[in-house]
This record gives sequence, structure tokens and C-alpha cells, in this order.
Amino acid sequence: MDLYEVLEKRRTYRDFSDREVSDEILEKIVGAAFKAPTNDHLRQLEFIVVRGRENIAKVIAPLSKNMAAFKELVFEVDDSGDKDKMEMFTDALPKQQKMLMDSGLLILPFFRQKQSPLLKPVEQSSLNYFASAWCALENMLLAATHKGLGAVFHIPVSDEADAIKKIVNAPEGYEFICLLTIGYPAENAFLPRQKEIHVKDRIHTNACWTNDGVHFDTNAFLSLSVSPVSSNS
Ligand SMILES: Cc1cc2nc3c(=O)[nH]c(=O)nc-3n(C[C@H](O)[C@H](O)[C@H](O)COP(=O)(O)O)c2cc1C
Repeated sequence: MDLYEVLEKRRTYRDFSDREVSDEILEKIVGAAFKAPTNDHLRQLEFIVVRGRENIAKVIAPLSKNMAAFKELVFEVDDSGDKDKMEMFTDALPKQQKMLMDSGLLILPFFRQKQSPLLKPVEQSSLNYFASAWCALENMLLAATHKGLGAVFHIPVSDEADAIKKIVNAPEGYEFICLLTIGYPAENAFLPRQKEIHVKDRIHTNACWTNDGVHFDTNAFLSLSVSPVSSNS
């Protein structure tokens, strides 16, 4: 599969078969994480891999109280003007627990968060550890797609992250990105329609936003009164 085919095929799957993902394939996917760019040359990633539905059920126990609320949320999220988004929510919200268990493979990707705490960044670069972790995660999603697998992740909400970190006895300074499930998609897996994007409309060369915050203007860009820096330094 060439790179652009992998990019096309990468979708968020929430319905899995129980076919097992081999250790060999898992290793390839985790290996892809270590090929991603990383701040400070660190790559301080650790992966807790949970196999078997019973074991997964124990690890995700802290999620159960929120799951009922998620199902109710479908009725509360009213973005009826956005059909694609509603179709996704209607499918996704009731599946948040089941989708983590069905394939029998749950991964908790941990990263080392140094300097300021994850939830108390002092400047944009404080988020570099988190950003690097997400670069690694995207590589894993693409590697999984390349192997004919589907993936989905649940982002911990409220106290879920702390509760799960406690279960796996995560040391101080380690955070996990998400609860990631990888597996062979079910035959009847549902995939919501993706938004149609016209790429050319999103590229604004030598342009600035106009004051309406919607349009772009090249004349405004060209009349910028900023002294340019030297390209030699
Ligand atoms: C930061 C982020 C958080 C997400 N959180 C969840 C989640 O908690 N549960 C879920 O089912 N999907 C989650 N998704 C998946 C999105 O719903 C999905 O990527 C989006 O609907 C586009 O569909 P596609 O991935 O098939 O292209 C998340 C995606 C991102 C990038």
C-alpha cells in the first residue's frame, strides 16, 4: 500500500472482530511510534498492552460511570445543522466502552511529561511532550492501517486518567495519551461519512486574514510593516 492509500484508508473504526492481533504485528505498530518526531530527542514512551476482554474490563472499570452519561449525550449534542458530525456522534457515543473491549487488545501509550504538569502548561512549548506523543500515535494509526487493522481511541474525561494511572501504578511524571484499541474491523463496521474538504480552498499563500476572520487577503500581507529577518542567520 503506498503512503497516500494508507492515508485514505485510515479511519476510526468502532466495530471489531475478535480475531487476535499477533505480537509480531503489534511490535511493528509500536515500532512506528518511535519513528515519529519528538521534542528534545527524547522518545520517552512506554506502552502498557492489555490483552483479553476480562483484563481490559478491569483496566477500564473507572470509565463505566461516565459511559451511561455518554449514551445520554447523543440526545443532548444538538448540532442538527451538521449532519456528518451528528452521524458520527450517534454512532460513536454509545460505543465508547464496547469499542475498547471487542478486539481484545487495548494499549495505553504513556509518555514522560517533564517540566510543567500536563494540565498546567506555562507556555505553548510546555505541550511539546504531549505533541510528540500525538505524533507517535498518528504513526501507530498509519502502521495499523497498513497492516489492514482498524483503530480507535477514547480520550479520558474527568477523573478517568487519574484512576487508570493508579490501576497501572504509573510513576510520577508519566501521562497516557488515550485508551487505544487496535483490531481487525468487523465485517459490518460502520464508518460515518467524512467531511468533504476542498484542499485548495484551505491554502492561503502570502495572505492574511481580513478583519471579518473569514476571508484572506494577499494585499494586506504584502503591505505588512514588519522588518524582514536575514535568511543567513
Ligand atoms: C483529539 C481527538 C480525540 C478523539 N476522541 C475520540 C473519542 O474519545 N472517542 C471516539 O470514539 N473517537 C474519538 N476521536 C475520533 C474522531 O471522532 C474521528 O477521528 C473523526 O470523527 C473523524 O473520523 P475518521 O478518523 O474516521 O476520519 C477523536 C479524535 C481526535 C483527533
